[in-house]
Amino acid sequence: MEKFIKENLIKIKTFHPFFEKALNEMLLAGGKHFRPKLLLAVVKAYNPLLVENAKYAAFAVELIHTYSLIHDDLPVMDNASLRRGHPTLHITYDEATALLVGDALNTYAFEVLSKAPMHSDVKVELIKILSQNAGPRGMVLGQAIDLYFEDKKLNINELKELHLNKTAKLIAASLKMGAIVVNKNELAKKLYDFGLKLGLLFQIQDDLLDLEDESKTGKTTGIDLHKNTFVTILGKEKALKEADKLADELKKELESFDENLKNELNGLLEKYLYRHKNKKEL
Ligand code: IPE
Ligand code: IPE
Ligand code: MG
Ligand code: MG
Ligand code: MG
Repeated sequence: MEKFIKENLIKIKTFHPFFEKALNEMLLAGGKHFRPKLLLAVVKAYNPLLVENAKYAAFAVELIHTYSLIHDDLPVMDNASLRRGHPTLHITYDEATALLVGDALNTYAFEVLSKAPMHSDVKVELIKILSQNAGPRGMVLGQAIDLYFEDKKLNINELKELHLNKTAKLIAASLKMGAIVVNKNELAKKLYDFGLKLGLLFQIQDDLLDLEDESKTGKTTGIDLHKNTFVTILGKEKALKEADKLADELKKELESFDENLKNELNGLLEKYLYRHKNKKEL
């Protein structure tokens, strides 16, 4: 995926002195590429020949995710100065640039998807899944809830709904998009539900990372104190227990998938299911 991203960086013709550099900076900074890897793992399990073409869809998801992080770090949102081991864009440049780079990656994701070498029907379905899960019924709603309820305590069900929207839906969408690329419509639904649970686990683990050192996470930490997270609502011990429980359930659920898919997902998820127990950041 890294190579594909490097080969498909955003190129623009302009006399703007740094906008092109700013557009690509957070893409080049790295990140785990968890969502694109999930999408590609599903494709590889059923049709390895389609993996190259599926990278367009995987990149689209990563573009949406990266835009969400750039906006998430803005002073009006989480006000973070470090991301992926680099200063955030509003620190390096200014807030307007960070805002506009986020906007640009959001729309560019759909340009990339529209140009994917795939049947148009498949592309329309992918565009639908990505936009529905990233937009007002997905990540954006989650972010709105996250910010509005700072300093206002949510109950555990509301907290789960917050996490499902802000993080889990995009992770679930990645798996579902993989299934759509290989034309497995039944599997798409099953993978989406698996992905929601995986995404909830992923955000609980992320909540725990806020307690860690920035040298380990590569992003600003210690900033969730006023937020609703599994750590602030339940405490560290219960958050760890909840993560264990979800990871155990997911491990069991993996057994019910076809052999090829189980192997691909196991290979990828062994690094992630119990990352809350790892000493080094993932
Ligand atoms: C961080 O996502 C924000 C969440 C939605 C939890 P990642 O932990 O996937 O961040 P990168 O892409 O690896 O930087
Ligand atoms: C971010 O959640 C979720 C997004 C949709 C970007 P966080 O605010 O906890 O993510 P980090 O910890 O800054 O990566
Ligand atoms: Mg946030
Ligand atoms: Mg944040
Ligand atoms: Mg966080």
